[in-house]
Amino acid sequence: MKIGNIEFKNNLALAPMAGVADRAFRELCIGYGAAYVTTEMVSAKGMIYDDRKTRELLDFTRSERPIAIQLFGSEPDVIAQAVKKVLEFKPDIIDLNMGCPAPKIVNSGSGSKLMKSPSLAAEIVKSAVNASTVPVTVKIRTGWDEESVNAVEFAKLMESEGAAAITVHGRTRKQMYSPGIDYDTIAQVKRAVNVPVIGNGGIKDIPTACEMLERTGCDMIMIGQGALGRPWVFSEIDDYLRFCKILPEPPVEMKLLTMIKHIEKICEYKGEYVGIREGRKHAGWYTKGLKNSAKYRRECGQISSLGELRSWAVDIIKEQKSYE
Ligand SMILES: Cc1cc2nc3c(=O)[nH]c(=O)nc-3n(C[C@H](O)[C@H](O)[C@H](O)COP(=O)(O)O)c2cc1C
Repeated sequence: MKIGNIEFKNNLALAPMAGVADRAFRELCIGYGAAYVTTEMVSAKGMIYDDRKTRELLDFTRSERPIAIQLFGSEPDVIAQAVKKVLEFKPDIIDLNMGCPAPKIVNSGSGSKLMKSPSLAAEIVKSAVNASTVPVTVKIRTGWDEESVNAVEFAKLMESEGAAAITVHGRTRKQMYSPGIDYDTIAQVKRAVNVPVIGNGGIKDIPTACEMLERTGCDMIMIGQGALGRPWVFSEIDDYLRFCKILPEPPVEMKLLTMIKHIEKICEYKGEYVGIREGRKHAGWYTKGLKNSAKYRRECGQISSLGELRSWAVDIIKEQKSYE
């Protein structure tokens, strides 16, 4: 699978996730076999005003390549200026966010709101493509709501303006993140365009990965929430697609060691104070599904240092072993 001239080692991508899929998490997922990652979304306006926090979101390393920087915005000229700025960071791809449902983003005319204004979205893609020296891709939803599902025409229009790939999240804006993935619309987009289509939504294991691939014919699959607390989901799916091998569920020790490694990395990149606080939500995800997980979820909100995290993990392992 290729986007422009960029080749990927497999067809598994990590979804962009603001506040979650930072450098630490992306590196971890790549270690487990994700072939393609995207930064958290970055405001095009923030980029041209040289906002420090916006620039921090662009902190990535060579080990993460191929990587896309994702921009959101609603003004074609601002997007063009932002594209020029982000090119200084040397991304492999620039992705445009046309799927975010968050009110703050939608109310500014960006994210999924653009699916209601295809001609403005087309202008945005055109000006990004003209300003860019790397492929520009677009991430969309199936439409704004059930009454206005327009992903097929929308994707065709984006392709005609130069988009090099289209990611389709198989839900409408109104559905937000609720269950029920519209595979048919993704399949129709795949048939309608010539550029690669990345299928996204609800993939959390081998069966849901196969369902997305088989029902849509998409070129690549993108995993978001299914990787939270389970970054090894990439190797599970990769091993199955390559060798038809089903890996056993990792033991609790391995899960919690991965959690520690992950939160240590966040602390390394952002300092222990911020890292631990950001790490708490990940700790809740890593312990989800264990016996007593509600208690662990409450407890992890109190953790305030890496030392506390490590001894908490040891106690959980002992407790879980006592149930075996
Ligand atoms: C916490 C969170 C943050 C997200 N941030 C972004 C983002 O910055 N850009 C984007 O295009 N999508 C974002 N998304 C949407 C995901 O990329 C993905 O499309 C969505 O979660 C559906 O995939 P999934 O069912 O595998 O989670 C976010 C989703 C979540 C849960």
